[in-house]
Amino acid sequence: MEKKQLNKRMHTARGNKNDDFYTQLTDIEKELKHYKKHFKNKIVFCNCDDPRVSNFFHYFSYNFEKLGLKKLITTCYKNQQMNLFSKCKSEKAIYLEYIGDKNKNNIPDPKEIGIKYLKGDGDFRSKECIDLLKQSDIVVTNPPFSLFREYVAQLIEYDKKFLIIGNQNNITYKDIFNLLKENKIWLGVDNGGTKWFQVPDNYDIATESRIKIENGKKFFSMGSVVWFTNLDIEKRHEDLILYKTYKGHEKEYPKYDKYDIINVDKVSDIPIDYKGIMGVPITFLDKYNPEQFEVKGIANSARWIGFECYTLIKRKKIYNRILIRNKKL
Ligand SMILES: C[S@@+](CC[C@H](N)C(=O)[O-])C[C@H]1O[C@@H](n2cnc3c(N)ncnc32)[C@H](O)[C@@H]1O
Repeated sequence: MEKKQLNKRMHTARGNKNDDFYTQLTDIEKELKHYKKHFKNKIVFCNCDDPRVSNFFHYFSYNFEKLGLKKLITTCYKNQQMNLFSKCKSEKAIYLEYIGDKNKNNIPDPKEIGIKYLKGDGDFRSKECIDLLKQSDIVVTNPPFSLFREYVAQLIEYDKKFLIIGNQNNITYKDIFNLLKENKIWLGVDNGGTKWFQVPDNYDIATESRIKIENGKKFFSMGSVVWFTNLDIEKRHEDLILYKTYKGHEKEYPKYDKYDIINVDKVSDIPIDYKGIMGVPITFLDKYNPEQFEVKGIANSARWIGFECYTLIKRKKIYNRILIRNKKL
C-alpha cells in the first residue's frame, strides 16, 4: 500500500477510535433534569446513536411519557469499517421511531419501537438524516468529537434546538466561540468534574489512571467535557456572586503588555468594581449570565478572536482568557 494511502487509513482509524466514547446514563440524567419543560410535545432526535448501546435512546424512551414527548427518532451510524463496539450486525444503518408506550407497561417494548433501514450509512450529514433532522424539534446526543464543529454548524443551519456533549477545547474555535459570544449557544449545567465514557474493550491509552473497568466494561475518563446548548436554563440567569474589589488590590490584577485589559487568574477573583475589560479563565463560561457580563472576545499570547489582545504580562505567556466586561457598572 502506498504511504499516502496508508496514512489516510490510519488517520481514519484514529478518527473513528476517538469518536467511540459512550455517554453514561447518570451523566445524561444529571443534565436532562434541568430541561424538562422544553420537551413537552416535542420530537427528539438522537442522530449519532446506536439504540442498542446509546443511553440517550434509553433515557428518552424510558422517560417518554414523563417528558410528554411526541416522538423519539434515533439514527445509528454504520461505520464503513468493522464496528467493534456497537456490535452492528446489520450491514445497513438503521433508524428507529418511538411514539410511546402503547400497552401501558411503562417500558418501550421491541414491538412498540419501529426499526427501519436507512439507505445510506447513517451519516448525520446525509440527505435522509437531514430529512429526519428537519422534522425534529430538539437534538440531544454526544456527537463524534472529531466532527463537532461541522455538527454544530448543521444544527445552526437548520435552526434546531439542541443539547450536546463536546470537549471544552471547542470553545476556542472561531465558529463555536462566535456563537457563544453572540449568545446563540451557551454551556449547559453539569460542566465540571470528570466524566467517564464507556469505550471499546480494545481501547488503549498510555495514562492508566484514565481507564477503569467496572462490571466487565471499560471506561475512559475525560476532564474538560462540557454540554453545549441553545435551550434556556435557569443557571444562565443567575448572577455570579462577586466579592473582591479592584480598588485597593490593583497589584493583584496586572494588565497585559500594551493593552488596557486586566488579567484575572480565577473566576472567583473577578472584581466587583472594575468597569473595563478583564481577561478571565475559560471556565467563566460555566457561570456566564449575559445580563451581568458581556463577552468581548477570547485571547491567548498568540491569537485573539473578537477583540484585540495578546495575553502577555511582562512577556510571560498567559493561557486562554475570555475577555469580558461587567454590564452592570
Ligand atoms: C462520541 S460517540 C457517542 C455515541 C452516543 N451518542 C453516546 O453518547 O453514547 C459518537 C458516535 O457517533 C458516531 N458517528 C461517527 N461519525 C458519524 C457520522 N458521520 N454521522 C453519524 N454518527 C457518527 C460514532 O459511531 C459514535 O457512535
